[in-house]
Amino acid sequence: MSHTSLVTGGAQGIGAAVARRLARRGDEVWLADLEDKRAEGEDLAGDLGGGFIVIDVSEPSSVDQAIKGCEGLDVLVNCAGVTIPGEPVDEVPTEHWNAQIAVNLTGTWLCLRAAAGSMRARGWGRIVNLASGLATRGMPGSAAYAASKAGVTGLTRAAAADLAPHGITVNGVSPGYVDTPMTRDFPDALRAARLAEIGMGRFADPDEIAAVVEFLSSDDAAYLTGEIVDVTGGYRIC
Ligand SMILES: NC(=O)c1ccc[n+]([C@@H]2O[C@H](COP(=O)([O-])OP(=O)(O)OC[C@H]3O[C@@H](n4cnc5c(N)ncnc54)[C@H](O)[C@@H]3O)[C@@H](O)[C@H]2O)c1
Repeated sequence: MSHTSLVTGGAQGIGAAVARRLARRGDEVWLADLEDKRAEGEDLAGDLGGGFIVIDVSEPSSVDQAIKGCEGLDVLVNCAGVTIPGEPVDEVPTEHWNAQIAVNLTGTWLCLRAAAGSMRARGWGRIVNLASGLATRGMPGSAAYAASKAGVTGLTRAAAADLAPHGITVNGVSPGYVDTPMTRDFPDALRAARLAEIGMGRFADPDEIAAVVEFLSSDDAAYLTGEIVDVTGGYRIC
């Protein structure tokens, strides 16, 4: 069965890889991203036969307006995210803390809240949230990002409990490190240190994360909810 799907942060990185997979399986795909990603988003949406919608996931009115525009939404993938790495916990500026919580955690909840109503009405839905390995592993300089992603894992499980009786599954995917614009500017020493901890000795290709999102958002994943799936190339085996 084909679905109507919306991918936040869909103009690049993991979100773009997810959008490509969902389009390939026959979904009608909406890419939602910031106004300054319009050019990339519209190009990709054009290639996929889908649409591009401007959204700022940290703004309730923007989220409500964008999601209202996608009638009959079946699948929501929350990929929009920001990280401001390298700030020790006692040196994080308040605005950096607030920005990461607002986009990664509050933004995920706002999109989920806006999408759940029509899924409830139809008794079917798939919601997939991007968490992170940093939610469960303490790494220097990641306090605000880690807190936001730990929040995403808690939100995912609680939302799954609320929505399971309505035929809606809510799951998370927790990548280790992925080759996207988010990690492209890692200093060489930091990249080398992270690579040394990954069993497979490389960062993931975004499509390797998208493959798991595709499954979790499929009909086949009907009996899977409230789970956080680690996709790390063996981050914890070294
Ligand atoms: N890349 C990694 O190594 C990695 C690891 C673990 C988790 N993640 C998570 O996966 C998700 C996707 O990451 P990515 O690597 O593709 O990142 P990316 O930086 O390549 O893409 C993130 C996208 O989110 C969009 N975005 C940012 N703020 C937004 C907002 N307020 N409203 C709407 N869109 C917004 C950006 O414009 C961008 O297109 C994020 O939630 C990230 O935290 C990434």
